[in-house]
Amino acid sequence: MDAIFTRRSIRKYETRDLDEDTIRKLLKAGMSAPSAVNERPWHFVVIRQTEVKDLIPDIHPHALMVREAPLVIAVCADLDLEISQGYWVQDCAAATENILLEAHSLGLGAVWLGVHPREDRVRGLGKLLELPATVRVFSLIPVGYPAEDKEVHDRYEESRVHWKDKW
Ligand SMILES: Cc1cc2nc3c(=O)[nH]c(=O)nc-3n(C[C@H](O)[C@H](O)[C@H](O)COP(=O)(O)O)c2cc1C
Repeated sequence: MDAIFTRRSIRKYETRDLDEDTIRKLLKAGMSAPSAVNERPWHFVVIRQTEVKDLIPDIHPHALMVREAPLVIAVCADLDLEISQGYWVQDCAAATENILLEAHSLGLGAVWLGVHPREDRVRGLGKLLELPATVRVFSLIPVGYPAEDKEVHDRYEESRVHWKDKW
């Protein structure tokens, strides 16, 4: 619960690499997310090569920080694995959030970069990452040891809650 309430988007990272065990923990967290009819349509592309990371900001206009991150995870869905139509988006969103929370609980920093439903980003990343035609990128998650501190905010808003059974 502490991870949920203290997580912030981290966009500055140390150059230190992440070991494979740590990366597997992040991926396991993603794969532990709830999924409609348990379809689990996700695939994850582990991006560490400078040559690949450097090209991402040409495709995604708000992703400059990926050049500094030692790791970028592309959360993807294989639409051929989808059983309950349209739910792959929510499955991938849950996986993305799980990875962010696991990163934070491991002392790492990360940020959710939206890809789907921006077709230019989906197409550009599909090409860059050489994805099969049925696979779409949902989000990118740069991860690294944090090189910035962020304040924690209490975002509870009573005005958004409707306690008396109806609006
Ligand atoms: C669907 C989605 C798309 C996002 N896309 C970007 C992005 O392209 N670039 C970026 O720097 N942050 C992106 N973010 C992170 C948000 O800016 C961030 O979560 C928000 O400002 C709240 O700050 P916090 O995560 O520190 O609580 C995105 C977040 C979500 C959920």
